[in-house]
Amino acid sequence: MILAIPDVLKPEQLAEARRLLEAAEWVDGKVTAGHQGARVKDNQQIPAEHPVARQVGEMLLRALSQNALFMSAALPLHILPPMFNRYSGGQQFGTHVDGSIRQIPGTPHRIRTDVSCTFFFAGPEEYDGGELVIEDTYGAKSVKLPAGHMILYPSTSLHHVTPVTRGTRLCSFFWLQSMIREDARRALLFDLDVGIQRVGASQPGHPGVVQLTGVYHNLLRQWAEM
Ligand code: NI
Repeated sequence: MILAIPDVLKPEQLAEARRLLEAAEWVDGKVTAGHQGARVKDNQQIPAEHPVARQVGEMLLRALSQNALFMSAALPLHILPPMFNRYSGGQQFGTHVDGSIRQIPGTPHRIRTDVSCTFFFAGPEEYDGGELVIEDTYGAKSVKLPAGHMILYPSTSLHHVTPVTRGTRLCSFFWLQSMIREDARRALLFDLDVGIQRVGASQPGHPGVVQLTGVYHNLLRQWAEM
């Protein structure tokens, strides 16, 4: 499932985050790439331990923890600290798959990457190119969202970022381990949840809503890994 989450940050949070990020020191993005990724990756990142990365990362994660659409779609168990990248002057990231297991920085713990997230700090009018192209079974999907929006996609997908030929593409990217490993099951639970909310809104108090809510939780109980 590929899903856009609109308006994750409020405009004033977005402006504050951009001010902090633009003043930070940036390094070559190859530092966090694996062998395959390093050959095709050309961008800049803020080092993970940089105080700005921590501060803006916490702002994003706090906002997401209160975002019902994100929680329902991702069903997160562990979320890696957000990282930050930027592309300009023709930079791009060729086709790759994200590493399946990542260590939580500063800890001995590792998580499985089930869902990949890209949050857009710059709007599409600010740069040319820089589309995130995600390949799924229906073909390639090209994603370039307004500032403050975020895209979720399965970490199993091949994807790339096209060359940025004008301006600067500024994003956060991170991964999470979901309580539901399989994308198809997560998508099913998400559809069921959205459907229950819709019926509940148009038929308040309908007994079918309670029954379907029971089905949702009993599926989650069967499938969730903690
Ligand atoms: Ni990637």
